[in-house]
Amino acid sequence: MIYSEIIKNGCNFLKKHKIKNPYLDTELILSKVTNKKREEILLNVNNKLNNKDITKFNKYLFRRYEKEPMAYILGYKHFWKSKFLINKSVLIPRPDTELIIEETLKYLPKEKSKKILDVGTGSGCIIVSLLKERPKCSATAIDISKNAINVAKTNAKLHQLENKINFINIDIDKYKSNNYDLIISNPPYINSIELNRLDDDIKFHEPMLALSGGSDGFRDLRKVIKKSKKLLKINAKLILEIGHTQKNQCLKILRENGYFINKISKDLCGKYRCIVSTKLK
Ligand SMILES: C[S@@+](CC[C@H](N)C(=O)[O-])C[C@H]1O[C@@H](n2cnc3c(N)ncnc32)[C@H](O)[C@@H]1O
Repeated sequence: MIYSEIIKNGCNFLKKHKIKNPYLDTELILSKVTNKKREEILLNVNNKLNNKDITKFNKYLFRRYEKEPMAYILGYKHFWKSKFLINKSVLIPRPDTELIIEETLKYLPKEKSKKILDVGTGSGCIIVSLLKERPKCSATAIDISKNAINVAKTNAKLHQLENKINFINIDIDKYKSNNYDLIISNPPYINSIELNRLDDDIKFHEPMLALSGGSDGFRDLRKVIKKSKKLLKINAKLILEIGHTQKNQCLKILRENGYFINKISKDLCGKYRCIVSTKLK
């Protein structure tokens, strides 16, 4: 079968089953199978796909039909300025999370060597992106998921940062090393009602450990805020990603724990997404 027929059939199949972006997804799958760029495929639509590759293509297409996100099928996602390898043990890096990078960089002068902790590192997208921008800093990245730590280590290696980031598979509750200049975290923050309302792509494919913040969505935010008090130096910063409805409650928890609020930032959709705070004493 030639590329144009494959694309037409694949696209019709996904469309029939109401998958979003059927044309783009089909092209990306063909691009993965043939190991060719999309543009190259479109310039060679009369090329033939061999039987072995047709079988591969159909397998990937079926995964998309089952609503598996394209990022897992392709095995990567772009975040900030880099490409990150991912699998189903980690959350797919989100454009919203780039706000945490933007805000954090403002508190990390280029020439200073700050000590950073990333809580719930997942794919490592936040800490790797920060260290690429601020090579003088050093970091520790922790995650409760062993598989996530393995993915993050692979990404650190991919970006030649394996010697700059210490990865530890541990629950934030048990972590004891202190004296950090900065803690960043995008913890799981979805409450149980919202969890049920998520798109199937997310609900059935992304790791629950990365999504669920307990019944009220604050279980892990509370943990990170409380624990960071012990791990940060005085006057050091805690920078958090939050759910867009969590601003007021999160500010309350931060203030109750003695933090000063520096800034609350909105994402590209105009939703509250990031809080910068300072541990006062
Ligand atoms: C929302 S994901 C964020 C992943 C990545 N930092 C990002 O922004 O794409 C939250 C991460 O926190 C981890 N996690 C959940 N509970 C944790 C805990 N108690 N201690 C450490 N990590 C935890 C999850 O395994 C998951 O990788």
